[in-house]
Amino acid sequence: MKQKIIAITGSAKGIGKSIAEKFIEKGAYVALLDFDKKAGEATEKAMKEDGGDAFFIQTDVSDYHSLKEARKKILEKWGEIDVLIVNAGISYLHSLNDISVEEWDRVIKINLTGSFYTVKAFYEDFSKKTPIDEGKIIFISSGSAITGTGGGAHYAASKAGQHGLMRNLAKEFGGNGVNVNAIAPRVIQTDLLDQLYPTPKSREKLIKKIPIGRIGKPEDIANLTVFLASPESSYIHGQIILSDGGRTY
Ligand SMILES: NC(=O)c1ccc[n+]([C@@H]2O[C@H](COP(=O)([O-])OP(=O)(O)OC[C@H]3O[C@@H](n4cnc5c(N)ncnc54)[C@H](O)[C@@H]3O)[C@@H](O)[C@H]2O)c1
Repeated sequence: MKQKIIAITGSAKGIGKSIAEKFIEKGAYVALLDFDKKAGEATEKAMKEDGGDAFFIQTDVSDYHSLKEARKKILEKWGEIDVLIVNAGISYLHSLNDISVEEWDRVIKINLTGSFYTVKAFYEDFSKKTPIDEGKIIFISSGSAITGTGGGAHYAASKAGQHGLMRNLAKEFGGNGVNVNAIAPRVIQTDLLDQLYPTPKSREKLIKKIPIGRIGKPEDIANLTVFLASPESSYIHGQIILSDGGRTY
């Protein structure tokens, strides 16, 4: 990963931040794209203090032009992009009747349309790659796309849509030596999980469903992401990899 240039959406906090930390540890240059300015600047500062090459760019994935601007800034600074991690996402644990039209639109706009905007904004960088370049696009989707649980109908639908987008891109970019894959976590300890399962009782119930007997750590996803971004995984393509402590199958 040394001197590879990585762009990660939703990387001010949670899973995205952990992925960024792992890449920094491996000597990569990391662009942190997130709309949370305060958290993004704090993450960038902490990484720089540890000697890492992090670059926070305030970006809203639901705004295509904001992503194009971010791309421009990355190219000005580092000249290219090797790995794109499509991670930003939101969730609400609501039953269908409680999902307002506005909430449906918001979840689809950030999780699904935002994923499309992200890959479209960086399209040129990956469509011009060759097998020697070894580009990588990795979606952080969700087991919800497979099980229908873990969020509302909007969340499951948005994540299933990400899988379709990933599979289509895998067909388009395979010949360019760009691997496209998705990691589907289920329960990982982040702010998003705290928001979905706020009580100790709801946590205990959750843990009982996981054969490995613990909630996942952001590093569990970060380790898999780094592997999928490495040359060692170049024959893994168009796949959805569950990282769920054995809960689903
Ligand atoms: N935590 C889990 O248990 C879990 C399980 C399955 C899938 N996921 C997926 O993993 C990804 C990361 O989730 P997390 O748990 O780290 O969440 P999180 O809420 O801890 O972090 C998400 C980050 O995305 C950013 N973000 C949100 N909307 C944005 C936007 N419009 N533009 C730019 N940035 C935006 C937030 O500011 C935040 O920094 C999401 O796609 C989520 O659906 C998480």
